[in-house]
Amino acid sequence: MKILLLGSGGREHALALKLKASTVDLVSAPGSDALAELGACVPLDLENPTEVAAWCATNRPDLVVAGPEVPLVAGVGDAVRALGIPVFGHDAATAHLEGSKAFAKAFMERHAIPCAASHTVTDLAAGEALIRGWPYGYPIVLKADGLAAGKGVVLAPTEVEALETFQAFMAGQFGEASKTVVFEEPLVGMELSLHVLVDVDADHASYALLPACQDHKRIFEGDQGPNTGGMGAFGPIPYLRPADIELMRTVLVEPTVKGLQKDGLAACGVLFLGVMWTAAGPELLEYNVRFGDPETQVLMQLLDEDLGALLLEVAEGRLRARELKLKPHTAIAVVLAAEDYPEGAKKGVPITLEAPAVTVIHAGTQKENGQWLTNGGRVINLATSAPDLSTARAAIEAALPQVHWPGMQVRRDIGLKALRHAEAGKTVQDPW
Ligand code: AMP
Ligand code: GLY
Repeated sequence: MKILLLGSGGREHALALKLKASTVDLVSAPGSDALAELGACVPLDLENPTEVAAWCATNRPDLVVAGPEVPLVAGVGDAVRALGIPVFGHDAATAHLEGSKAFAKAFMERHAIPCAASHTVTDLAAGEALIRGWPYGYPIVLKADGLAAGKGVVLAPTEVEALETFQAFMAGQFGEASKTVVFEEPLVGMELSLHVLVDVDADHASYALLPACQDHKRIFEGDQGPNTGGMGAFGPIPYLRPADIELMRTVLVEPTVKGLQKDGLAACGVLFLGVMWTAAGPELLEYNVRFGDPETQVLMQLLDEDLGALLLEVAEGRLRARELKLKPHTAIAVVLAAEDYPEGAKKGVPITLEAPAVTVIHAGTQKENGQWLTNGGRVINLATSAPDLSTARAAIEAALPQVHWPGMQVRRDIGLKALRHAEAGKTVQDPW
């Protein structure tokens, strides 16, 4: 099977390693030096559907797998599918669930999916008045409507900061993306990432759940410091009981799948539900129309299926609703980040990379004369799985001395809070 994989980061390297576990001919676009070790790379502009479709028309891959959301929002899925080539990745209309927070909130409200109360504002005076009479308590959650490279959500702790953020958004901090602003009630609780493979069309609607994972967004241990794209993740979550998963299936996943069908939206890929488990139960924070990063690195450790065949099943609209085959393990992925991340990223620093006994995933590296160099904020991920979270954490600890460079940042507490929560016999209903 010839597969074109769109993307270049850690998520794509993890997908590529799993795809290569079966015999596939892999091409990545634009790819990376690490992906080049698994197949050819072609320098396609993922925001240009015509360019990606033209390559596909000539090279006829059996399957296109979209890593990031940007090509999907740009319409790459539509353009390639129009050629009769299967795509694991949604049409632009469905990708709007990530591409527009206002659209996603309207979808959640229309289909009675529990979520934070919200107001969508496009007018400066109306937004300022809303902030001055804010009824939901602090922080005020402000979201730029459109894609803002993960930087479009601000939790403003005071009225003054909310006004400053709102004014900057409306002045075009993220261009058109921030000229519509969604204000949300702050939700308090335990955050988790729920991935669902979805195959929805006018005449069928099936889905398959992947194990719930937990990401660690802050740069420093103990959840301190600024937000990042994710410093590490693990899954499944040891204190989530089967009944908790069933509740998320009933109140979040099924209304989403049925809602897509009712609205005439096709789905052909993955939905990643950002969930906050509050005192009132699970509530939906957001939809992503792609796999999470670093959640994918965790999920690929757990999935015990031929990935290419599974993604093709979704892409061809013949996903059978079923329990996916999973290793009876807990997996963990720990991010090794560059100096200055998340404000910046010191690039070009030589990496010492011995041969650790865990999976090494390249997220932001470059190879020069046989030497790996840092080339992004999140540089390398170490991933593994073991019968339980404690053992998986220990395996990463044992591997850490074998990968390093000056200025490397790593959180050694990935999964630790959850482990303690579980060991204390607490459930998801207990305060987090
Ligand atoms: P989003 O891109 O919508 O997931 O927002 C990014 C992050 O902001 C989430 O992962 C949450 O940690 C936080 N967040 C988003 N919405 C809310 C909310 N209504 N209440 C509290 N935290 C939120
Ligand atoms: N790890 C969070 C994300 O991929 O959005």
